[in-house]
Amino acid sequence: MAVNMKGKSLISINDLTIEEVWQIFELSATLKMKRLTGEPHRLLEGKTLGMIFSKPSTRTRVSFEVGIYELGGIGMYFGPNDLQLKKSESVADTARVLSRFLSGIMIRTFDHQDVIDLATYGSIPVINGLTDLLHPCQVLTDLFTIYEKKKELKGLKLAYIGDGNNMAHSLLHGCSKVGMNIAIASPSGYKPVEQIVKNAEANATYMGSKVEILDDPIAAVKDADVVYTDVWASMGQETEAAERKKIFRNFQVNSALVKNAKEDYLFMHCLPAHRGDEVVNEVADSPNSVIFDEAENRLHVQKAIMALLM
Ligand code: CP
Ligand code: NVA
Repeated sequence: MAVNMKGKSLISINDLTIEEVWQIFELSATLKMKRLTGEPHRLLEGKTLGMIFSKPSTRTRVSFEVGIYELGGIGMYFGPNDLQLKKSESVADTARVLSRFLSGIMIRTFDHQDVIDLATYGSIPVINGLTDLLHPCQVLTDLFTIYEKKKELKGLKLAYIGDGNNMAHSLLHGCSKVGMNIAIASPSGYKPVEQIVKNAEANATYMGSKVEILDDPIAAVKDADVVYTDVWASMGQETEAAERKKIFRNFQVNSALVKNAKEDYLFMHCLPAHRGDEVVNEVADSPNSVIFDEAENRLHVQKAIMALLM
């Protein structure tokens, strides 16, 4: 039975029920098919999505903007210098004002609390397009992509190699929510946030799956169905990039490492990739790599999320 998600915000995958997650996947598949066959699907005719970007973006911006357009609505882009937000106006007042104009807000920013505040003080759905803490839209897309390729999720193993960052956190939430096993290998001092690991462990216990936080990339990748990595220095950490290059040196996804995964493993990366750092071309461009299908699916999944919430 369909679950009514209208009016809700999407801030963290952990706030979603398993039924809501599967509803997003089902609508994503339907919308993907309709786009392919040219069947109209103007589910958000006349609606306006405000898109607030305090950080750069290729996939998130383009998928939301094209997505809302294809659904019959319009997207309005706000760059880092466009709004009064946090300059001469509080997040709360901005939320109250934007709620009088728009049908929904997608926001990419630094401080996760700003997204929570926007949803708390506004009265329209807020979609988290990445914060320093989480990247839920990307991980919903990743799980949808794995399901497309593997025809199942429960019981599969995803190995994430690298920084315990927003991607690691949302993967912890997402994989554990759908009953996938997740193993994360990161250098000490760069492990995922403890509270998020605890949330994932609670989900995993419920679903009968496993969460492992490891030091050794080889142990993490062992028999993995999916090998995932992300940049060593995220947006906002540019000044740490040189130091991180040294710290993460042994956490590169290369041909030797992926030999430990299952033969038919999928290589995934949220992109942008820093080729030669966290992943080498030989892996990123291998037949196991699904990075561009993954990128394309951002469009279909973002459309489903907007259609369900707005
Ligand atoms: N993966 C992702 O969110 O890409 P962008 O930073 O280009 O939006
Ligand atoms: N961890 C990366 C993800 C980019 C999609 C960042 O926050 O920059």
